[in-house]
Formats: sequence, structure tokens, C-alpha cells
Amino acid sequence: MSSNILSRSSAFRQLQSHYQQMRQQGLEISHLFEQQPDRFSRFSLSAAGIFLDYSKNQLTDTTMELLFDFARQQRVEQQRDAMFGGEKINFTEQRAVLHTELRFPDGDSHPFPHIVDGININVAVHDVLARMQMFVEQVHSGTWCGATGLVITDVVNIGIGGSDLGPKMVCQALRSYAHQGIQTHFVSNVDGHALDAVLAQVNPATTLFVVSSKTFTTRDTMLNAHSARNWFLQHFTEAELPKHFVAVSSNQSAVQEFGIALENRFSFWDWVGGRYSLWSAIGLPIALAVGFPHFRALLDGAHAMDNHFKQAPIEQNMPILLGLVGIWNRDLLGCVSLSIAAYHQDLKAFPNYLQQLDMESNGKQINHRGLTVDVGTGPIIWGDVGTNGQHAYFQHLHQSSTITPVDFIAALSPQHQLAEHQLVLLANCFAQSQALMRGKNAQQIAAEMAAEGMSAEHIALLMPHRTFTGNRPSNTILLDELSPTTLGALIALYEHKVTVQGFCWGINSFDQWGVELGKVLAKAIEADLRSATPSNSHDSSTKGLIAKALAARSVIKSAG
Ligand code: F6P
Repeated sequence: MSSNILSRSSAFRQLQSHYQQMRQQGLEISHLFEQQPDRFSRFSLSAAGIFLDYSKNQLTDTTMELLFDFARQQRVEQQRDAMFGGEKINFTEQRAVLHTELRFPDGDSHPFPHIVDGININVAVHDVLARMQMFVEQVHSGTWCGATGLVITDVVNIGIGGSDLGPKMVCQALRSYAHQGIQTHFVSNVDGHALDAVLAQVNPATTLFVVSSKTFTTRDTMLNAHSARNWFLQHFTEAELPKHFVAVSSNQSAVQEFGIALENRFSFWDWVGGRYSLWSAIGLPIALAVGFPHFRALLDGAHAMDNHFKQAPIEQNMPILLGLVGIWNRDLLGCVSLSIAAYHQDLKAFPNYLQQLDMESNGKQINHRGLTVDVGTGPIIWGDVGTNGQHAYFQHLHQSSTITPVDFIAALSPQHQLAEHQLVLLANCFAQSQALMRGKNAQQIAAEMAAEGMSAEHIALLMPHRTFTGNRPSNTILLDELSPTTLGALIALYEHKVTVQGFCWGINSFDQWGVELGKVLAKAIEADLRSATPSNSHDSSTKGLIAKALAARSVIKSAG
């Protein structure tokens, strides 16, 4: 990097002056389409079964060249290679970042030896995968059954953050591939309503609890796990517990202490970050839900995207392109958020999953030299399934004064036989990106209203309300169908996109110190909520809130 101050680096300044020029020229996306008949093919590409169209952004060939210069200046390729090479790029925690190794196929020759902390990690990964496969097959075949000999019908994953969002999203997304006879449930929230609702649906004799926690210390998860255990012990004995509780964790001693037999622990490692862990044993509920071959296909799809990310030149590298377009929108256009519109009902949880992936990774402002990054970093991620969003917040996307780029995601072929629905769905998806780009000007609107026979007065009144400024950026990502392979590639695409952006901003995308403060304060407040004499150390608001909770508790107690 030529300077610690990103906005003053030569490549960034060139991007800024280019952006100013574009604004002065009044260049709009729809003009760019008129000027460049081959714009769609120029600004789109396919990789690992994923098609990306980024032509509906406010950018030209020159923009892309300058963004590529910026990526080179920020040493994106070198940092990528350091990540794949196992360097400890998570420098605040002194850890390698090797989730890509979790999807590296067995027997494929490695470009470099993968020994981390004295362990051959390819061997370790495949040992765990083999154990997972055996376990899943035993559960599915009924060889592994509950304490009374009944087959397992329900799997309850207890975990939060990366130990919940990824597996939950994938289980929903691959609903069409589900193994008949197994229902998966996810309990993450410490709010007792979450566990209570799931326990009300399951039979302890046929339920398998998977306690998923990398650290096995997360308060929310441990409380849920202990309550689930107590509920189980109302029906069964300690000796029967091993048939109903397994753990996924890197913390062996805590798992043992909880009472889960070590042979029922599936491990993973320090070099797998929580939000990058669905490919590890954290994916056990996925494999239980859809079967091991489909879980392997998910890993293979991600591995195909890893190879593309590793090998493709910057100019044709999908995660790098998506990351750079995001930086252009974030730092030059000044867009603070990115909306994810998934035009596939089974991807309903995808925006939620991406929130952790992107915001926990890049919701930071300090760079690797300890200095504040002086441009905008990770955007706010939000969204829902497309057509539902259209009837809720798309008004804001089309006409508010805030420009929010959108990633539209759709599958070309559905998993159902309702052809008419697919046609209408895709029409909506493509129309929304077109509408955001084109907008509608006053002249068009006046002509339409005049043709409807409206008076000049009425036209003048309505015109500003019915005008769409347009020129609003979006990407469209298409999959042939939502399969384990394409889903794996899609998730890996976003993982790498987020990583590329972190590399560009010079931040560490792999730690999460920002979640710690609240955890510590919650401990102190928890102590106060238990005590008859709460500490006096809080501000008046917190003290007042604690007093209200204590009063309510005594009401509950006296009512009880
Ligand atoms: O609190 C944030 C976090 O540390 C995430 O990064 C992580 O995915 C989640 O908590 C759960 O952590 P664990 O798997 O250790 O319970």
C-alpha cells in the first residue's frame, strides 16, 4: 500500500476523480446501455455454475480498470494467496484462515503442504468428515437409535451465530433434498420461548440434540443446552443421554464437562472462523437433513468457487469483481447498505446468514496498522425474499433519497412443477432491476397521464410523486437451479467477496472483538438481576430497567 490513508492513495484518488467526471457528464446506467450494445456480455461472467450480471451498475470500462488498479495496489491477490497458503492472516488472534480446506476433496494433490500447528489438516478434515458420514448413515438407517430403540425423527441444533445461521440457512435452502423422516429444528435465541416452542413439538425418545458451539462457552447456547438436557432428564436417565446428545466443538474439555461422551464429539479447529464454519462438523445438521452425498456436493460446489477465486485473473474473477463493485458503490457512490433480494422462497434465510458473514467480518474501521480506515467499510446487509420485499420496502429502494444497491438472486429452474409461478417470479426479478435502473421521468409520466385523460392540474399534482429517478445499481446472480452444488458455490462467492473487500480496506475480516463488550456487561447485569441488592454502578437508565425487571420478577414469584 502506498499510504496508510486509503483515500489519499493514488488508485483511490483516480477512482474519485473518475467518479466526479462521470457525475459531471451526467452518465446514467441506461445511457451506458444505449452507448454500449454489448454491455451485458462485457459486464457479466460465469464461474462454478454461477452467473453474475453486474452491468446494471454505474460503471464503465474505465471504472473497472481503475478498480483493478485499486485491487492491485491493495495487494488483493497476494493477500488471497497468503490466506490459501495458511499464513496467520487473522493477526489479532494469531490464526490461519483455512475454511477453504474444509471443502478440499480427499486425495486431490495440494499445491503446498498443509500442516498447521503440527497437524496435516487435510487428513484431520477428512477424518472428521468420515466420522460425520458414518454417524449420519447410522441415524438414517436406524442403526443409531434413541434410548428406547426408536429411530431418530427430529434433530435439534442448539447453537448461535455461525453455529446456527449457516446450517439453518442451508437446511432451508436444500429443503427439496431433505431426507424423509428427519425434521431439523434450530434453537439459537436465549429467549426461552425459542427452546420451549421446539420442545413442544418433539418427542424425547426420538430426538437427537446437536450442541454446536466452537468455544462451548457461549452463554446463550450453554443455557439452551442445559435446559434441553434437564428436559430430557425429566423423561430419561443420565445413562440414556449419550444416544440423544452429540456435540460439535473445538473445546474437548468443556464438552466432557457437559456430559457428552468424547466419541460423540465432532471437532473442528481454530483456523475455522464461526461464520465460515458450516463446511466443518458445524454442518452436521445439514448432513443429517439432506444426507451425506448432498453435503459433499455442497462442499464440492464451494471448492469449485475456491479454485476459480484462486486461479482466475482479477479481471475475470467473480468474487473480486463482486467485491470491487461493492467498494465502488460503498465508497464512491456512498451507499451505506446493500439489500439482498432472493427470488427463491427456500433462500429466505440467506440475507440473515449474509448479515453475519458480511457485517461481523467487515463491520470494522481499524486497519492492520491500527489506524482508522478513512473510507466507508462493510455495508449494512438486509433483505428478504424478493416478491415479499416488493410489497414492503421496495418503495424505499425505488423512490427514497437513499440509494441502496440490490443483489438479486434467482434460480432459472425451480424444484416444483408450478411453471406459471416460476415465470411470474423471474419476470418480477428482472423487472425490478430494470425499474431501478431505468426509472421514469416527468415527461413519460405526463404523457401517460394525459393519455388517460387527466387534467393538466391533476397531472401537475401527481407528477413529482410518480417520478422515479432511476440510475439505481444492482447485480443479478443466477443459478441454473438451487442445488447443493450451486448453493455451495454461491455461499463461497459471498465469503470470498467479503474477504476481498476486507483485503482492500486493510481490515481483519476474521475477528469479532465488537461482540465482546455486550457479553461482559450482560454478565454483570445478570448478577444484578439475581441479587436482592443490585449494584449501584450503573447509569440511571440501566438501573431503572433493572429495577423494573426485578419488580416484575417478584410479581411473577408472588403469583407463583
Ligand atoms: O458472539 C459472536 C460469535 O462469537 C460468533 O462469531 C460465533 O459464530 C458465535 O458467537 C457462536 O460462537 P460459538 O460457536 O463459539 O458458540
